[in-house]
Order: sequence, then structure tokens, then C-alpha cells
Amino acid sequence: MAERVWWRDGVLYQVYPRSFADSDGDGVGDLRGVIDRLDHLAWLGIDGLWLNPTFPSPNADWGFDVADYRGVHPDLGTPDDLDELVAKAGERGIRVLLDLVPNHTSDEHPWFVDARGSRDAAHRDWYVWSDPAPDGSPPNNWQSIFAGPAWELDERTGQYYLHLFHRKQPDLDWWNDAVRDEFDAILGYWYERGIAGFRIDVAHGIVKDRELRDNPAAREDDVVQYRRIGQRPEFSMLRPDVHDVLRRWRRLTDDHGGERVLIGETWVHDLETLATFYGGGVDELHLAFNFVFISAGFDAPTLAPIVARTEELLPQHAWPVWTMGNHDVTRFPTRWAEGDGRKVRLALMLLLTLRGTPVLYYGDEVGMPQADVPDDRIVDPVAVLGQPGRRGRDGARTPMPWSAEPGAGFTEPGVEPWLPFGDLTANVADQRADPGSVLTLVRDLIALRRARADLRTGAYAQLDAPAGAWAYRRGEATIVALNLSDGPLSIADARGRVAVGTDRARDGAGVDGRIELGAWEGVVLTA
Ligand code: NOJ
Repeated sequence: MAERVWWRDGVLYQVYPRSFADSDGDGVGDLRGVIDRLDHLAWLGIDGLWLNPTFPSPNADWGFDVADYRGVHPDLGTPDDLDELVAKAGERGIRVLLDLVPNHTSDEHPWFVDARGSRDAAHRDWYVWSDPAPDGSPPNNWQSIFAGPAWELDERTGQYYLHLFHRKQPDLDWWNDAVRDEFDAILGYWYERGIAGFRIDVAHGIVKDRELRDNPAAREDDVVQYRRIGQRPEFSMLRPDVHDVLRRWRRLTDDHGGERVLIGETWVHDLETLATFYGGGVDELHLAFNFVFISAGFDAPTLAPIVARTEELLPQHAWPVWTMGNHDVTRFPTRWAEGDGRKVRLALMLLLTLRGTPVLYYGDEVGMPQADVPDDRIVDPVAVLGQPGRRGRDGARTPMPWSAEPGAGFTEPGVEPWLPFGDLTANVADQRADPGSVLTLVRDLIALRRARADLRTGAYAQLDAPAGAWAYRRGEATIVALNLSDGPLSIADARGRVAVGTDRARDGAGVDGRIELGAWEGVVLTA
């Protein structure tokens, strides 16, 4: 464990490029904006950036409908801008990951335009086509995750095509070797261009049941995602055959050398299945996002067992990854902390002290809350197509609050951004100047991680603690004690010095045997 590996020992940061920083005053964030803000990320101590989709796209699903896997969306800049971003990030010790979307393309991708031209088009079998049922209805019962049936009838050729998301996102057929070969080439193309790895969209679901069997009905105790569509996606996703593809990508990635990383969007609801995406520990994904953790409530009796079980289940050599949110879920300061600053700080202390790679979503470092996007500004297809009342994901994707000035430091004053600003009270400029801020806390916790092998790679061992508290030892000599309750608590067997406390007035204090923690307070103790 001595040797440092950047993606294992470091901290990753997710940038939603349209909302990070707008360099040209058109209200849309872009790659030059990210370049302009690299110093913030370096100052924070970030080791890797994951950029949400940067490819040309008609934006039916905001970049997740890709029209060219080797290009850059003109709204975001040019391929040269991306090269420059990779180079300038590299100068600061920061690697860049792209968001690979292999489950589907845009319906405007030249492959699909060709495929729907005729039944014998060259790319026809790159997609999943099927004849209508005898009564003309869709071939099976699969439901789209966005809304309605997952099948769209192509009138001209008389067959249905599959789309697990938007009808403008036709699913690729991963049983087709030509598709597999083409994606190998796409990965290789970006590796040659200096990209350090990929976050893989829908990593658990790209291979479909070959016989297109019906999904079983959802059960009452199923997760809300399955109950909403009325079925468990047992045949439309979650096929064991996906592991062949992941192994293939891992080989290809390792063969390119240079410590590259594959992080899967492994949106599964049990930890046993999650662990399978690491394969034998060294032959599938390097990191598999833990949605069981993200989806849980912010309380010790729920979260501590999830962490313990994850530790237990991951194969040898596999490495956990923790995140509290992303562009698809409500921001954690609203969902977990309910706007309570103490909870925001405690959650960040948890994220940055667990054993595993932490991933911050842009804005997390200042405690950016979910924005309330008015109805007439909603652009997320989930809300537009979904059942009435489904709010969609726009509130987690609003512009980064760099300052409280007009334009928020995101764009020029007076320019209306593509999504409205949320509350700008928590912003980078104000918090940078404040030694007691959330931002300073995050920076100090990251610096502590960097300085202490215990926090980077030391073993995780849960310690006895009273109800409502969560305490663990990391490595030899680091103890984390968190109070996830509304009242004061006392934790025994705590010794050392407070290296960082959520209440900064505690920093430096010696602890000899017992520590009293206020409601929603946490400390990291070092020997
Ligand atoms: C998961 C992505 O994170 C989400 O934003 C997108 O809508 C779907 N995959 C479809 O690509």
C-alpha cells in the first residue's frame, strides 16, 4: 500500500460543464471556463476531474445523447480547448476523465440515421430492433426509465427500436462485435489524447437479454425506481453478460498504461451486486459508484452498516468510492442536511475520511443546496416527459456560485444563464475569505488526507459508540468521531489531538480518553 496511486489516494471532482463557468458570456458553461477555474480545484487539492458529457449532442438529455464520440460539443468549445484543458490540468497535477455513454447514442448520430434508413442498412444491427407483437404493440413489456414504453415504432421500416431512456436515445446492441470494436477504438482514441479514464454511463445495463424476455413485475418492497416503472429491469439491464464488456475495457485500459481509471455508474440497489462490478478485484471496474450509500438516509444506523458491508463484500484489491450526490439526484445539503449547516459539515467530514476515493460534485465544497427551478425554466426530459409532479434533475444542475455578485462569477453580469441561479449565499469568494467556512473545512480535510497515509489507505475499523454516533479508526493512529444526532454525546476511548473539527474552535485540542461532541459535530483525531 506504500506506493501512491492517484485515483485511489486522491480526491475526484465532478464538473457539469454547462454549469461550471461560462468564459464567453453566452450563459452556458464551457471548457475554457473550466480552464479558468483550474486554480480553484488545485487550491482545493483535487486530483482528478470527471467532466459530464462533452460530446456533440442535440441535448435531448443534455449531452447523454451523443452524436459523435470523438468530438466536442460546440456549446462547450473545441477539441483544442479540451486538449488545452488536459494539458493545463496536468500542469497542476490534475487528470481529466470523460463521461462515456455506451448504452445508447443520439437518434441523430450518423449510425442511427443510417440504421433507420432501411432494414439492411450497414448500421441496422448496431441497434436493438424487433418486430411488433401480433397486435402491433411493442415487442415486450420493457419500460423506459424516463417515461412510457421503452420501444418506439419506426414507421418507415416497420420495426420497433429500443430506448431505455428518451426515444431520442436508441440503445446500441452490445451483442454486436462491431459495436464492441468501435468502442474499443473510441476509448483508445481518447487515451491517446491524454484522457485519464472514463466514468461509464449505465455501466450495469448496456447488455440486454438476447431473447428480449419480459421483465418481472416490481414487488412492493422494491426500490422506488422499480416501483415507478412497475417492473424490475432483470432482462432489460443487469445481465451478467455485461461483465465480458467490462473485462474487455479493463484490459484495454490497463494496456494503455499510465494509471488510468474506469468508474462505473453502477446504479444497483444491493451491495452484493455492486461488488460484482469489481470482478475479481483487478479485472473489471477500478471503481463502482455506490448508490446504496447515496440513496440511504443521513443517519448512523443506516449508513454505518452500508459502509461496513461494502468493506466486507469488496474483493481483495478492489477499492471503494464514495459520493453524496451527482447530476441525477437532489444535492446532499438539501437531501441529507435539510439546509442545516452542521449536517453539511459533518457529511463532508464523513465523505473525506472514509476508506475509499471521495468524489465531490461541483458546489459540494461550499455546501451548495438544491435550487428551486421554476416550472417555466425546467429543461430536464425526466420532468418534461415524466408524470406530473416529477420535478426532474435541473435543481441539482444550476450554475456554480463563485460569488454573490451579479452573474455569480459564473457568467457576465446581466446574462441569463441556461438554468437559473440557485441561492448564492454559499459561494466560493465569501467562503475563501472565511477560515470557519465549509470551503475551508473541505480544503483542510483534503490536505489532511494528503498528509496522512492513515486517511488515504489505512484500514477502516468501526469503534463502539453510543446510539446516534459513528466512530471509526483509520489505519494506526487516526480516529474519526461523528455525532449524527440532535443532542450532545460522549464518546469513550478517544485519544489524540483534534486535527480538524467541524467546529474549528476545537482544532488543536488534546483529547485524553473521552470526547463530548455537540449535536451534529465531528472531529478527526490524530495521535
Ligand atoms: C445516467 C446519467 O447519469 C443520466 O443523467 C442520464 O439521463 C442517463 N444515464 C441516460 O444516459
